[in-house]
Amino acid sequence: MQKILAGKKHKISFMKQYNRYPLEKTKFKTENYRPGDHFRIPLRWDNFTLNVPIWQQVIPQFFGSGYVPTFKVLELGSGNGLCSNYLLDKFNCTIDTVDINDQHIIEEDDEKYLVSTSLNLRPFIDSNRCTFHNMTTREFMHTNLNNRYDFIYVDASHDPDWVLYDAVNAFELLKDDGLMIFDDYGMKGCAQGVNAFLSCYKPHVEVFYKDWQLMLRKISSLKAENDKD
Ligand SMILES: C[S@@+](CC[C@H](N)C(=O)[O-])C[C@H]1O[C@@H](n2cnc3c(N)ncnc32)[C@H](O)[C@@H]1O
Repeated sequence: MQKILAGKKHKISFMKQYNRYPLEKTKFKTENYRPGDHFRIPLRWDNFTLNVPIWQQVIPQFFGSGYVPTFKVLELGSGNGLCSNYLLDKFNCTIDTVDINDQHIIEEDDEKYLVSTSLNLRPFIDSNRCTFHNMTTREFMHTNLNNRYDFIYVDASHDPDWVLYDAVNAFELLKDDGLMIFDDYGMKGCAQGVNAFLSCYKPHVEVFYKDWQLMLRKISSLKAENDKD
């Protein structure tokens, strides 16, 4: 188990105390997407499948509708791994996904169950299409300065200072013409962070969708004054 996780070491003794959340209790809020049987969550944890209809329109416009070519994704905030499962099931991509938490203990019917992000990502980790980075987004940014991505999904902290930090630093890792999606733009804290980023980065982005999520295309990277034409 330890070898498949980047960052914190997996606590095997901790995992042994609880049964995995049962498949028969696992439910999703919409019919838009169903992951494989390895994936387990209680109903209240589906924050993602409602986004599938719009993502199904947007992603092929950036990366084509077929299973080729491949593209590289960074997800800030893995949650229970549902979004990563969707992307890895539906598209020919690889994903780095980052979350401060892996293990979640859920109480239901007087029982305690384990929901594990890394177990929910397991088939894709095993086939080397997904790496789960069990750390803060800040730790990830500090140690992955040279990676570049085609698509970055910002869905970690809701605090404006963290959202701004994630936006600015993730933007550096996004390729020109790349896609960036912010979740929870409808929330005050997230909107404050995203708007602060947009007010300074306006010349470098094309915002093409604003609702509960905000979506943009990166037009150009920042250039230092003496690099400009
Ligand atoms: C809404 S969930 C992500 C859901 C996931 N993107 C999906 O759509 O399936 C937000 C996650 O961000 C994580 N998180 C919050 N702040 C973080 C930070 N500073 N660094 C890393 N992870 C963070 C939380 O632990 C939580 O699991």
